[in-house]
Amino acid sequence: MNNVFKGRSLCVIEDFSIDERRYFFKKTQELKRAILENNEAVMDSFRINDPDFGIYEVFLEDSTRTKESFRNAAKFHHAKVSELLCDSSSINKGESYADTFNMLSGYSNRIFIVRSKVEGLTKWLSEETSEYAERNHLPYKPAFINAGDGKHEHPTQELLDEFSFLERLNMDFSEIHLALVGDLYHGRTVHSKANGLKIFDKVTVDLIAPDELMMPENYIEIMKENGFKVNIYPSIENYLDCGDIAKIWYFTRPQLERMGERILKKEAELREAITFKREFIDRLKEGTKFYHPLPRHKEHPTIPTFLDKTELNGWEEQAINGMYCRMILLSLIAGKIGEDFSGQSAIEKDYKSEEYIVEVQPENKDNKEKNISEGVRPIRNGIVIDHICKGDSPEDIRKHIRLISSVIGLDNARGGEWISHGSDGKFKGIIFRPDVMDLSRKELKRLAAIAPHCTLNIIKDGKVAKKFRTHMPPRIYNFEDMSCKNEACISNPVNKEGVASKFYRTNDGGYRCAYCGKVHSFKEIWNKR
Ligand code: NCD
Repeated sequence: MNNVFKGRSLCVIEDFSIDERRYFFKKTQELKRAILENNEAVMDSFRINDPDFGIYEVFLEDSTRTKESFRNAAKFHHAKVSELLCDSSSINKGESYADTFNMLSGYSNRIFIVRSKVEGLTKWLSEETSEYAERNHLPYKPAFINAGDGKHEHPTQELLDEFSFLERLNMDFSEIHLALVGDLYHGRTVHSKANGLKIFDKVTVDLIAPDELMMPENYIEIMKENGFKVNIYPSIENYLDCGDIAKIWYFTRPQLERMGERILKKEAELREAITFKREFIDRLKEGTKFYHPLPRHKEHPTIPTFLDKTELNGWEEQAINGMYCRMILLSLIAGKIGEDFSGQSAIEKDYKSEEYIVEVQPENKDNKEKNISEGVRPIRNGIVIDHICKGDSPEDIRKHIRLISSVIGLDNARGGEWISHGSDGKFKGIIFRPDVMDLSRKELKRLAAIAPHCTLNIIKDGKVAKKFRTHMPPRIYNFEDMSCKNEACISNPVNKEGVASKFYRTNDGGYRCAYCGKVHSFKEIWNKR
């Protein structure tokens, strides 16, 4: 039978569908019970049990829980467990990540668990090593598990967090009301919640952090798009006055190592807003539980240690759950379990190919002449790109026209540019290029990506012979003159890994980097010239 989990990578939480995650939690519950009851037969049914099956840990950033729970989970499987000693590896001699991991893939390693500051690294490596495996006729394609990449995501922490919340909610997926407290700006564990919490039918999230540590706007947007109710509070003190307080609180530590000078100066003040105090206890709801991905700071813990022995302590069991969840994840990726899964799989998610240059009927003669003649002698033969950046300011339109002309390779041709306004008073840009008679398929794709919602008129003998409307392509990649603008992203040129950028269109007309998830406007993705 087909096993949808076998060989899959988990780079962001959305790599597993809601059905797949729900199945994952059910299996984790089964295994946890078996381990606590010492039921060897059930435990064995989850084990990979293959001394040649390589599981490789590569931690390029510090870790205790994630690394050790994965190591212990891997050992449970009676598999071959290795670790790359990053301080003494050739990465320090300037070797690319692709070369390093390709090599390790060749040594019978099937699952890589990778933590790094570089965002989108595991996604890139899963693509790169697949090709390597094919070229070298390896009998498998390695799978990658993201164990935390910069400020981006931490999908396995997300799974164990949700599993812990679910235990609290008796595995009921119908509703969750969750308070997220702390460094919501730098904390990747809370960023993974923007899509992670979709496993619940109804979600209310209270974000508690001062401005400097508030969750980045794009994650708040994703939460809202996902139908979550989102409330924002500057401090715990302020939150406790709001009336409707959550019973599940999730704390994160201020991530000092990721903060710039400006924020670090205010460290004490910021910490104050997100640290729980003794006098707050009576204001909590009956049955409240606190969670934390840990570590907490020994001198300045946001969950103070006097709470360890109280009923509020949910974080200890949460950390223990980490190992069970990671055992299940390895079991699934190895294809040991998962055959009885039914439901929608994320691998069925398909990007439909869509036409981005659509031919439309040329307008009648009067309109045509008005379109192309304002202030400029009508051209007899050539192209006219019209409706550029409609509604923007003339200054912005001019800037973008310059970019379009250079990106489409129209800089060296005769012709001109014009800013006009339509009957609705909105400004728009027009580019005229007599002599240029046609654009290639590649140029058309670039035109649609850089000048969406425009028209392209092909003028022959003074008439609009053909007219096209441009739509944002659903995917764009492999153009050398565009790049993700997040410097922490594996595909950003500053990282010199030679990764070609790749973007997917978002619902509201932006472009999301396929590696780090950063959303750009269609103007931003092109490199400055
Ligand atoms: C977190 C991480 O590394 O993102 N810890 C973890 O994995 N348990 C949170 C943190 O470092 O604060």
